[in-house]
Amino acid sequence: MSDRIENVLHENRRFPPSDAFRADARLSSEDGYARMHRESIEDPESFWGRVAGELPWIQPFDKVLDWSEAPRAKWFVGGKINASAVCLDQHLESIRSGKRAIVWEGEPGDTRTLTYTELHTEVCRFANILKSRGIKKGDRVAIYMPMIPELAMAVLACARIGAIHSVVFGGFSAQALSDRIEDGECCAVITADGGWRRGKILELKKEVDAGVAGKDYVHTVLVVRRTENDVDWDHERDIWYHEALLKVDAECPPEPMDSEDVLFLLYTSGSTGKPKGIVHSTAGYLVGAYMTTQFVFDLQDEDVYWCTADVGWITGHSYIVYGPLANGATCVMYEGAPNTPHPGRFWEIVQRHEVSVFYTAPTAIRAFMKWGDEHVEKHDLSSLRLLGTVGESINPEAWMWYHQKIGGERCPIVDTWWQTETGSIAITPLPGVTTTKPGSATRPFFGIDAAVLDEDGNELGANEGGLLAIRKPWPSMLRGIWGDEERFRETYWSKWPGYYFPGDGARKDEDGYLWILGRVDDVINVSGHRLSTMEVESALVSHESVVEAAVVGRPDDLTGQAIVAFVTPAAGISASDELLRALSEHVSTEIGKLARPAEVRFTDALPKTRSGKIMRRLLRDIAAGVETVQDTSTIEDYAVLAKLRNYDD
Ligand code: WTA
Repeated sequence: MSDRIENVLHENRRFPPSDAFRADARLSSEDGYARMHRESIEDPESFWGRVAGELPWIQPFDKVLDWSEAPRAKWFVGGKINASAVCLDQHLESIRSGKRAIVWEGEPGDTRTLTYTELHTEVCRFANILKSRGIKKGDRVAIYMPMIPELAMAVLACARIGAIHSVVFGGFSAQALSDRIEDGECCAVITADGGWRRGKILELKKEVDAGVAGKDYVHTVLVVRRTENDVDWDHERDIWYHEALLKVDAECPPEPMDSEDVLFLLYTSGSTGKPKGIVHSTAGYLVGAYMTTQFVFDLQDEDVYWCTADVGWITGHSYIVYGPLANGATCVMYEGAPNTPHPGRFWEIVQRHEVSVFYTAPTAIRAFMKWGDEHVEKHDLSSLRLLGTVGESINPEAWMWYHQKIGGERCPIVDTWWQTETGSIAITPLPGVTTTKPGSATRPFFGIDAAVLDEDGNELGANEGGLLAIRKPWPSMLRGIWGDEERFRETYWSKWPGYYFPGDGARKDEDGYLWILGRVDDVINVSGHRLSTMEVESALVSHESVVEAAVVGRPDDLTGQAIVAFVTPAAGISASDELLRALSEHVSTEIGKLARPAEVRFTDALPKTRSGKIMRRLLRDIAAGVETVQDTSTIEDYAVLAKLRNYDD
């Protein structure tokens, strides 16, 4: 961490928005930003009341914010609204009805375009299929799909009938899917036979079969045909989407939902225990997604917008589905890998569809850098006017490459900090206003009162590293952890009374810009995906050959962080390449490929404190190959430390 702080302190390049960009930007003056931000903090009710007023309400709200039962926020109290109607129906009466909503490309090269009118019809039909299976308001529906248009339809169809969707990333294993279905007590799963990834079929239906085995409460598995591979079939439970479509009509009025009704659950890793089902409300979430998409991406009607995330993550929820569609944008959606069939696939897509706003992750940018500029230079990227990043801090070298090679030095870059829990972008430049500094997410968005505090809640001075905090409620904030009120309060609201604790370190520089310094808990960020060390440890320990495991992150040039596992094998088992492979496979099965350790170190014992706690910070230093500055006076057995260090030499 200290290295990183050093690095960014030396960053003194500045990039103001160009006059050409500012001329057409939604917001282009510092004064404008300052005025709006001040109002959003000092008078949130009138600020957010006005923004929310731009959405189509079924019944208007009577109170903007009720914070009397903090941390249980209620926004837009008394209102009724439907998220799918916000994303679709409102555009049908406007000139946008024939506008392209989704421009989709499959990995093999097949394409599909849906206008707002067409998407509306498909979503209504989809919703009627769900209804025909008895699925209703409040029911939880798991969605486990490839990045095909039906994924967006599934999400919106649930929203249309008031069912709570719980999207599980298609890269997760049957076990991870099973845990999430169980925690949310989902009555149905929407999936596909498979999806294309790096030229291979990802057999999703097979994982679902394993994931729902023994769960009688899952009465329906709805299967979209995508890859046409053979699948097993349960005639009671399973239905083909293309067959069910023939039996439903396209009339499906949106269910009026209370502002605070749950729109979705999305599971994310925390430092301890099982994954947390983050709960988002309907109206507040939509208002956040709607406004951030408009201002952070400076959305204009003629934009072709592409967010490369998967809908299985929060970024895909807010910036592929809800935010852009609520604004009537044209969104590109792509099924496959960025380097299939060649490392220039993304740039080919940008050129073909004349993408103007492009949003991706630092880990992808670093991969493109590694693959070589020639794959970029082959394509015409002149349609681009704005670039964004999300998921982790972007290192200044990658920022500069993105700026020069992709943005042609003309596109502003918005480095957006936020979380599954914040629901929408919380710290970010505004592209027509903010002078950016490579590596800084810059300043809080409207409604976000961000501060850098010490453990006791004292605000720190310029350039002092501390903990990020948010001091006021905002509309798209999480409303809880599914089924675990106690954990919700404990995790996010107990560090300082009344303040939200995101779990990230940060510092503010002399201009008030925020620099995010990574997680301060036991969460590892691999390729922008949050994994808890605890989950990977549990997976390892559940293998018969392992007695104890400790998992830490170490810096990695490509993925940001990589997983290093220290493993103590069971008596009589010796370390071998075979065991290594078996453990890697085991973690894949338990969680998913993304959780496989980059490195496993076998050790007879783990360094522990006298009270028996594994000294993770020490292991982190060992994994990173740096000298420990930490106090080791509480260590139980110095021999263990010496051995682990020797391993390093
Ligand atoms: C990290 C993803 C630095 C951070 C939207 C946060 C970032 C976690 C940035 C949330 C950024 C996200 N700069 N760090 N621009 N964006 N993070 O829930 O540690 O998957 O707490 O949401 O990612 O990850 P999540």
